[in-house]
Amino acid sequence: MKRILVCGSNGLLGQKLAWLFDRESDYEVLHTSHHRSFVHEQVLVDYTQLDITNRGDVKSLISSYRPDVILNAAAMTNVDACEREKEQAWKANVTAVENLSEVCRRIDAKLVHISTDYVFDGKTGHYKENDRVNPINYYGKTKLAGENVIISSGIDHAILRTIVVYGVGVNVKNNFALWVINSLNEKKQIRCVDDQISNPTNVFDLAMAMKRIVEQDISGVYHVCGAETISRYDFAVRAAEVFGYDPSLIQRIKTTELRQDAQRPLNTSFIFEKAKQAFHYQPMNATQGLTMLQQELTGIHLN
Ligand SMILES: NC(=O)c1ccc[n+]([C@@H]2O[C@H](COP(=O)([O-])OP(=O)(O)OC[C@H]3O[C@@H](n4cnc5c(N)ncnc54)[C@H](OP(=O)(O)O)[C@@H]3O)[C@@H](O)[C@H]2O)c1
Repeated sequence: MKRILVCGSNGLLGQKLAWLFDRESDYEVLHTSHHRSFVHEQVLVDYTQLDITNRGDVKSLISSYRPDVILNAAAMTNVDACEREKEQAWKANVTAVENLSEVCRRIDAKLVHISTDYVFDGKTGHYKENDRVNPINYYGKTKLAGENVIISSGIDHAILRTIVVYGVGVNVKNNFALWVINSLNEKKQIRCVDDQISNPTNVFDLAMAMKRIVEQDISGVYHVCGAETISRYDFAVRAAEVFGYDPSLIQRIKTTELRQDAQRPLNTSFIFEKAKQAFHYQPMNATQGLTMLQQELTGIHLN
């Protein structure tokens, strides 16, 4: 039986991993996150608090649990906060990855880590795994540095780069799809950029990809994203269609009008052929992903 340690179990991806792996008897899983308790307190999973920026705590927990695989879903993910709080961003996205890589080397474990489309500058789009990286904001710089730490450590690893992840979770940071849906539900006008183009990713596809990586013992760097390349504006309009809201509430704007702290790469669309070949990655398009989200939200409201 494989032993798995998950970091960041309280996040959007971490919660989906808990849901997926807890249906499996082939794995023994220990969930960890920064917060003292697991967000789903009523669900019986093995959980312990772990701040992955704390080298001593990482060493002692992992040396005693001795996982075969570590799934790292933890990170500082607020792009503008990373631009303002650089030291904290480096700690969460680079120092923590150094800590995990060090223990993986010591106990010969594999590290499965999540990176981002923001390692690219967004000038061309259609990025493949080996295309030239050139992050234009601090979040992207820290995530690229995290990738480099893992690759240069020599440990067995898989790095999945993903994009605009959406889904439902308890107490999770607002994601783009949920913000659009909640705003339209309240009949609020929203402004969405039509010049940021990418492949929004349903968190279910990302978590399933991680599970396949574990099952098939896949290594390397992979682009794991939604099947459809679409602008934020068109994605919001699609959400309105799927949920039956008024699309005229969505105003089309340009990225420069948002005046955000961190600069955004514009076209970060991915080619995900490598993941398709390696582990039959077949993600949902935007309509399918949003339809799943609608079903999940309906389920949550019914409960
Ligand atoms: N969301 C996106 O659009 C997107 C796009 C591209 C890439 N990614 C990448 O995908 C991964 C998962 O993202 P997500 O959306 O699931 O993130 P998220 O919802 O923000 O969750 C991240 C979790 O990391 C945990 N965490 C933060 N610092 C920690 C620390 N020092 N020690 C332990 N846990 C810590 C937090 O746990 P607590 O709640 O317990 O404090 C938080 O719940 C990240 O690597 C992110 O960079 C995300």
